[in-house]
Amino acid sequence: MRGGRVAVPLVAAALAAAASVHPGAAATVGDAGRGRAVFESKQCARCHRPEGQAGVGPALEKLRQPQGTFELVGRMWNHAPAMFSALAWEAIPWPALSTAETADLMAYLKADRARDGTADPLRGQDTLVAKGCLKCHALHGEGAAVAPDLGRWRPQYEDAAAWGATVWTHTPRMAEVARARGILYPRFEGSQMANLVAFLRSTAK
Ligand code: HEC
Ligand code: HEC
Repeated sequence: MRGGRVAVPLVAAALAAAASVHPGAAATVGDAGRGRAVFESKQCARCHRPEGQAGVGPALEKLRQPQGTFELVGRMWNHAPAMFSALAWEAIPWPALSTAETADLMAYLKADRARDGTADPLRGQDTLVAKGCLKCHALHGEGAAVAPDLGRWRPQYEDAAAWGATVWTHTPRMAEVARARGILYPRFEGSQMANLVAFLRSTAK
């Protein structure tokens, strides 16, 4: 039957389309050896030294410990204001990170997808509100209009390394706007960042 022959490829095409819209959390795979080189070339090693050596930031061993990939992005998010002041003070320009470099750094700092656990989008929605993201951003047109609408789909919602690179690049600017507007700069812990991104992934169009 003609209908039957057409229907099968259509179902297959629909499934393929659904899979490409929601491929789950994709991941750029990094390399620890390259990550070590990135850690040095991007000035991280300048402030994060091995235990026992004086450095401006926490010791390398504190950064390099088994953790989830989104958990590490949360920690990188947190330290932007402090690092921003430290960099301005030392007159070093903010080091930009690409997705590939962030994936390499993740591998070097022992951040592992297997430790991300199962993210909870409902909790992520609460986190988005509790962290005050909507004091600057809109979500599907609601909220503030100081910063881009987070309801717009971004490839970074699918990949921790891409998300980390975006966070790393944008946090100095965010921290500056927060300071200028008297908004408390949000901090992350544990699975909060993973949940928040899972929520954005589930709602974005
Ligand atoms: C100019 C100094 C400086 C540079 C350069 C720097 N950091 Fe930091 N970093 C800090 C300071 C200071 C803190 C503590 C800030 C805080 O807790 O608010 C910190 C904290 C961190 C933390 C959180 C540690 C924790 O205990 O949770 C991570 C992760 C981190 N840095 C990674 C990096 C990476 C990766 C780079 C390079 C791309 C880097 N840092 C470059 C100064 C620096
Ligand atoms: C104090 C205001 C402020 C707060 C609070 C804030 N942001 Fe932002 N955010 C900005 C600004 C400003 C930009 C644009 C930065 C730039 O590109 O110069 C931005 C950019 C971004 C981007 C990149 C957007 C793009 O595609 O270019 C993301 C993602 C983001 N913020 C996520 C968040 C999340 C998640 C929260 C809450 C945890 C948050 N922001 C809280 C001000 C803020």
